[in-house]
Amino acid sequence: DKGGYKHFMAKEIAEQPGVIQNALNHYLTEDGEIVLPDGGIDFTKIDRLTMVACGTAYLACFTAKYWFERIARLPVEVDVASEFRYREPPISNRTLAIFVSQSGETADTLAALRYCSGKVDTIASIVNVSESSIARESDLALPIYAGVEVGVASTKAFTCQLTVLFLMVLKAARDRGAITSAELADHISALRGLPSVINMALEQNDTVRAAARKLSQARDVLFLGRGQMYPLAHEGALKLKEISYIHAEAYASGELKHGPIALVDDTVPVVVMAPRDSLFEKTVSNMQEVMARKGKVILISDAKGLAEASEGVWASIQMPSVADALAPILYAIPAQLLAYHTAVAKGTDVDQPRNLAKSVTVE
Ligand code: F6R
Repeated sequence: DKGGYKHFMAKEIAEQPGVIQNALNHYLTEDGEIVLPDGGIDFTKIDRLTMVACGTAYLACFTAKYWFERIARLPVEVDVASEFRYREPPISNRTLAIFVSQSGETADTLAALRYCSGKVDTIASIVNVSESSIARESDLALPIYAGVEVGVASTKAFTCQLTVLFLMVLKAARDRGAITSAELADHISALRGLPSVINMALEQNDTVRAAARKLSQARDVLFLGRGQMYPLAHEGALKLKEISYIHAEAYASGELKHGPIALVDDTVPVVVMAPRDSLFEKTVSNMQEVMARKGKVILISDAKGLAEASEGVWASIQMPSVADALAPILYAIPAQLLAYHTAVAKGTDVDQPRNLAKSVTVE
């Protein structure tokens, strides 16, 4: 049941404030304590993390790497499951291995999990389907409480994965003494505000649709981000190519001048994801290099960022301001909406894109 929406994807995008609230309710007590299932994880016993997944779930891991390293001071290796499993990397027994999968049945992710079994301290999984193979074979399974996701392009599962990962980061940071209780309280209060800022982001639907109409004419699109917004640039590009079949690539904005800027001309839209954080000016200077080559910039930022840098851009999309660390969750919304409206403008099959399956149970 699409609940009045034209596509499951649109419905699932709109559900995000509610399902993120669900996830928060399951992991956060009223007094702001983070409770993980099954006795939790002893973060003082581990000294590194290995995170493995495929596709969008991999990009949730990639985003969480920035959080775990910065906030919990834990080094993180992340990899796509199909590479990890055959690389057979050496792993120390002080490792926490985390496998992220919406379906819990992805063949490569399951194989990677089995490779880690017996070698690491703990195997944790973050899944949407609690009765899945990946959940069953983990020491500890953390459900994301996103509800059934029907659209092949993952949307609400991604933001719920990020929410649960962020809670894990905070738990790890606190257990390891990497943050003070005041810092923890600030993060928790920002998290509690997340459903309402996501609602505000959803209100930008019409602006995003207008930008998407322009984007639908493009043959190639670049996505740029820096720091924790770099994995999200990948997510924006993945979503766009999956459902609109437009060729899209993501680059760390600092990598632009090491090759990809050669592609930029007045036919190439460049989507820049840049909240007004400490890296903003660096990203903006990369964006200006794009504009100097007549690249068409779609800038996604907050009011402050747009006031400073939107002159001369092709389109801009305004996000509410949010605690720095949570920007990747919030900016997932315009990334999803941009792909969605571009696909609708092109008339492609949004919920059932060609050649793709919802659950990839063969390698
Ligand atoms: C992208 C998408 C896929 C999945 C990937 C992993 O929108 O849906 O990239 O994220 O196939 O699937 P799960 O999470 O079920 O392991």
